[in-house]
Amino acid sequence: MKNVLVIGSTGQIGSELTMKLRGMIPEGNIVAGYIPGAEPKGALLESGPAEVADVLNGAQLAEIVKKYNIDTVYNLAALLSAVAESKPLLAWRIQMDGLINILEIAREQGCAVFTPSSIGSFGPNTPRVGTPQDTIQRPKSMYGVTKVATELLSDYYFSKYGVDTRSVRFPGLISYTTLPGGGTTDYAVDIYYSAVKGEEFTCPLNPGTFMDMMYMPDALKAAVDIMDADPSRLIHRNSFNIASMSFDPEIIYKKICEHVPGFKMKYVNDPVRQKIADSWPDRMDDSCAREEWDWKPSYDLEAMTVDMLENLRKKLNLA
Ligand code: SER
Repeated sequence: MKNVLVIGSTGQIGSELTMKLRGMIPEGNIVAGYIPGAEPKGALLESGPAEVADVLNGAQLAEIVKKYNIDTVYNLAALLSAVAESKPLLAWRIQMDGLINILEIAREQGCAVFTPSSIGSFGPNTPRVGTPQDTIQRPKSMYGVTKVATELLSDYYFSKYGVDTRSVRFPGLISYTTLPGGGTTDYAVDIYYSAVKGEEFTCPLNPGTFMDMMYMPDALKAAVDIMDADPSRLIHRNSFNIASMSFDPEIIYKKICEHVPGFKMKYVNDPVRQKIADSWPDRMDDSCAREEWDWKPSYDLEAMTVDMLENLRKKLNLA
């Protein structure tokens, strides 16, 4: 990786991945791709090139790839699961029309492509605990449908055209820099904001709703390491299960209470999110990622909680 286009650079993953890549590859062009209305600001804008990069505009993307001699595209444009249920056609267009635009450019101009998949690519008849790498994927949400199709299309472009597509199935991602928008796992970010602000948290999911979760530094490491992995070791490509922690609302609430005594939480169920969460795994088996490219996370719930609380207090100027 030297010249990289990050599409969706102002989103939850993109905003941090772009900065990480700029730090790692100072001699390269790490282009922050964005859409009008979601412009980069501050350090993201000042530390490197930025270009309007709409996944639905193939000609525009091709121009950027040519201009900066891009070798790797991180395709992070997507509607998350809950918002995709309210706008299924738009989710399909962004996720699928966008992907094929990128894959075609990658085929023509020889780029590697990372398009994340998710725990959302699984469905209610997938084994929930120790979810295997290769298993039943019959999701019921539009988000999940697009993620399975993304995995298949990415593998197709690799086997048919040799496009270097690789990716991971992200768990719910927790971070303090940029908020996620419209996902099912967002509660696990929002709960920390409530805790540091001294507010009661309203949890949209029932107690006992377990899902895989991950702290952003581990997710970024996975996104970089999979693209740097030795291709001769890769048996799988799109996409690898990766896991680091699994909890339900009670467990994260109790963990935060250890650090924020008196923190309060109540449950007000969101049926759309609950239905989605109930169809996702409790905990994925990530042994293929560990064997094929040495995946290993660093953060557990305790380490993440300490870091989230400290950094959110700084960010929000709360002593
Ligand atoms: N975090 C995503 C969501 O909740 C799943 O990958 O939609």
